[in-house]
Amino acid sequence: MGSGYFDLTGRTAMVTGAGAGGGIGAAVAAALAQAGAAVLVTDIDGDAAAAVAEGIRAGGGTADSAALDVGDRGAADAAAAKAAELGGGALHILVNNAGVTAPAMFPKLTDETFRLTFDVHVMGTFHCTQAALPYIPTDGTGRIINVTSAAGLTGTLGQVNYSAAKAGLIGFTKSLARELAAKNIMVNALAPLAATPMTETIRTNEKFAANMMNRIPLKRWAGPAEIAGAFVFMASDAASYVTGQVLPVDGGMVM
Ligand SMILES: NC(=O)c1ccc[n+]([C@@H]2O[C@H](COP(=O)([O-])OP(=O)(O)OC[C@H]3O[C@@H](n4cnc5c(N)ncnc54)[C@H](O)[C@@H]3O)[C@@H](O)[C@H]2O)c1
Repeated sequence: MGSGYFDLTGRTAMVTGAGAGGGIGAAVAAALAQAGAAVLVTDIDGDAAAAVAEGIRAGGGTADSAALDVGDRGAADAAAAKAAELGGGALHILVNNAGVTAPAMFPKLTDETFRLTFDVHVMGTFHCTQAALPYIPTDGTGRIINVTSAAGLTGTLGQVNYSAAKAGLIGFTKSLARELAAKNIMVNALAPLAATPMTETIRTNEKFAANMMNRIPLKRWAGPAEIAGAFVFMASDAASYVTGQVLPVDGGMVM
């Protein structure tokens, strides 16, 4: 369990999109639990979320799970209520991690794929954050952690839809940080880079792999567990004076 600045004992967290084996959300859920938080693991795939929660419990942590498509406001409300129940009425930490990509060069982007990225990233974060807010304490322990991307900061070829959605989340984060400062709730975003199912093609397809590696000053991909510590930082008392920020955790790709 964590200690001092990073001890999350007594805190409750909800992580979206945390069902993918090898994904960022599952690693973040495990790291928050390791720091002492009780965690509601959620994913559009409820069975996958249940398996991640089971793994956390097997390791001695506290976790439960819920099926949650972040595009579904009712499901977001139900999941937030369930998370708060896990924490005796409070939900301290919300991690809006669920994500999809639907890459295509600009002329080939369709309304459907453009909408999909907005529905999951922007509307999903909107739904889950509004659902969680009534349960988030105003004593300085409340955290909303959004997941953006280098794509939203610098743009990415073939990802106008995803980049626009991720840039939207940066404006979301900064505006909400200003609104919720009065309630002592911190709102930040992380821009990760990690070897996950989402990045498999750009890591392994020779059309993209070398070019990607050239953009990473540390010249390696991190696994999701390596970047999860930055989420623990944002969730913890160590970040009690940090709000409205976008923190890249990406081997130096964005400077
Ligand atoms: N991996 C990277 O390098 C990288 C870089 C920048 C940003 N990100 C962002 O990090 C987050 C996690 O990415 P990852 O690499 O772990 O991806 P991943 O594809 O491994 O996992 C994404 C998870 O989101 C879930 N999901 C998809 N649609 C959903 C929905 N509508 N409701 C709920 N869950 C849904 C999936 O089932 C999956 O479990 C995403 O927001 C992604 O955009 C990742």
